[in-house]
Amino acid sequence: MKILFIGDVVGSPGRDMLKENLPHLKRRYNPDVTVVNGENAAHGKGITEKIYRQIKEWGANVITLGNHAWDKKEIFEFIDDVDDMIRPANFPPDTPGKGLTFYKFGQKELAVINAQGRTFLPPIEDPFRVVDELVNEAKKRTPYIFVDFHAEATSEKQAIGWFLDGKVGGVVGTHTHVQTADNRILPNGTAYITDVGMTGPYDGILGMEKDSVLRRFHTALPVRFEVASDGRNQLSGVLIELNKENGIAKRIERILINDDHPFFH
Ligand SMILES: [Fe+2]
Repeated sequence: MKILFIGDVVGSPGRDMLKENLPHLKRRYNPDVTVVNGENAAHGKGITEKIYRQIKEWGANVITLGNHAWDKKEIFEFIDDVDDMIRPANFPPDTPGKGLTFYKFGQKELAVINAQGRTFLPPIEDPFRVVDELVNEAKKRTPYIFVDFHAEATSEKQAIGWFLDGKVGGVVGTHTHVQTADNRILPNGTAYITDVGMTGPYDGILGMEKDSVLRRFHTALPVRFEVASDGRNQLSGVLIELNKENGIAKRIERILINDDHPFFH
């Protein structure tokens, strides 16, 4: 059972990379389920209904979000009408949307959970407690469970990886936009990576136009960041393979496509 996950799609450069490469990646890896983090898909912050539909058309089965989920206000008009886009589960009760969904493939289902860290991010509910509850709920329906943990601190991401080891098939970190090289199978069978990395501008700073970020560092004045649009692009992802019988991870492979890591298809 294979899950293809694509890290944070940033603005139109990220969308272009996704559209161009997803068919090739699907042909190579033949995933049962494709999950895309789309929280930066609209101009680097948030997602619109049009972009949600495009990402689905290009091949995503489930879209996850993060701290920028609410930045495009139109999300409130459609998030409760769709079953295949989830926001971090540990927002306060009564927040629109949900943090757990089930995607059917053949006779089986993958449970996808999205949660957000609290370290160096706005305070929300305890992700450990909320994810634990959702994992228990998901386990009643399926042995295949996948978690996108959207968090800033490496330590918090490692902590949730260890916390969920043996309880879910895969835990991937998102949000920090730089792919980490620590993909591994934890001792009780959970595939883990601290951060999948970002899909979007390769020549910016975390996807943003580098001169404006440099200006902020040089001057310490408020500077408006735009998505970098005049350089090269990249795509970051992982392929996770779970044991068909019990949902325990067999493999986690990093996917990185850019001019320094070309993809031959
Ligand atoms: Fe984020």
